[in-house]
Amino acid sequence: MTARSVHIASLFKDPEPMLRLCAEISPYGLYTSERVDHPINQGLSERHDVMAHYLRYGNRMGDGGAVKTLARRTNYFRGELAYGDRLQTGAGAILQHEALASAARKIHECDVVVPHIVFANVVVPGQELAPHTDVPEFFGCNRKTMPQWLVVVMLRSGLFDESRLRIATGVSWLSSGEGGTFACWPDGVDAPAVEVEAAPNSAFVIDNCDVVHAVDRFGPLGAEVAPLRPGMQLDLSLDGQSVVTDPEGATVVRYSLDELRVALVWKAYCFEDAADLARWQRGDNQLTIDVVIDRIVQDLRVRGRITGLAPSSPELGLLMIDEYVRYPIPAVCAAA
Ligand SMILES: [Fe+2]
Repeated sequence: MTARSVHIASLFKDPEPMLRLCAEISPYGLYTSERVDHPINQGLSERHDVMAHYLRYGNRMGDGGAVKTLARRTNYFRGELAYGDRLQTGAGAILQHEALASAARKIHECDVVVPHIVFANVVVPGQELAPHTDVPEFFGCNRKTMPQWLVVVMLRSGLFDESRLRIATGVSWLSSGEGGTFACWPDGVDAPAVEVEAAPNSAFVIDNCDVVHAVDRFGPLGAEVAPLRPGMQLDLSLDGQSVVTDPEGATVVRYSLDELRVALVWKAYCFEDAADLARWQRGDNQLTIDVVIDRIVQDLRVRGRITGLAPSSPELGLLMIDEYVRYPIPAVCAAA
């Protein structure tokens, strides 16, 4: 039976070892330190699509926040517990979790689920996750091989659907804190948002690449985000204070665990059946970045967005984002 989302009330018998593992993989870097070098990425950030969307449509709270603090408000800390063959000792307890795999099978109505990624995200007071969809994957195209905004454009353009990998995403919270409601639009952004309480040890599984989602401002009302900037790191501690340091090693800010939101993000490929899995394993029809760019440029010509020579970077990327990444979020309350 197909489901748009699956809620799991209690993921682990005891979540403490998983939280401890999250501390052990410290230090955490800022999410935006991930980067793929390619000429089309010049002058753009990895999730430029999210930033452009935020500047155009704002957030669910209808306040938008100050543009000058946008980067630090939306740039949380991220660690990797599993990615493909790389697995931290102990992370198998979530990577191979049967309840998550079962939820993925329901969402994509598929027989074969291949867990692939577990990220640990740490959000600090004053931060929010802007409305976005996650980075999808296509044959030969993923967050490690192409700029992340470009892979999102691929999905939203609909031009590469025959090469798309189905992915289910489970988010599980290990610590809670104030605010930071997880909101998503499984029935489209014109339908009411589904709000999910980030209850510790619960999990929520959806297709985050398709379903727009966001996290409202986290922390006490009016909390100002610390002056985070590229190169800073977070040392997550369960027993004492967690410390953010700058690239020179100086302490920027300290947090107790109950001031932080620690979340696990689980991702799995979903295949209809063994034959579908085999098609992916053979590595047929791998797309290259040049083929992808050419096909999108061709489509932009058909749409009348490009006449004559295609623009260079960053204008070409900005044009792609402007044309395809459009999902206006209705605010739940007007700005004060
Ligand atoms: Fe996300």
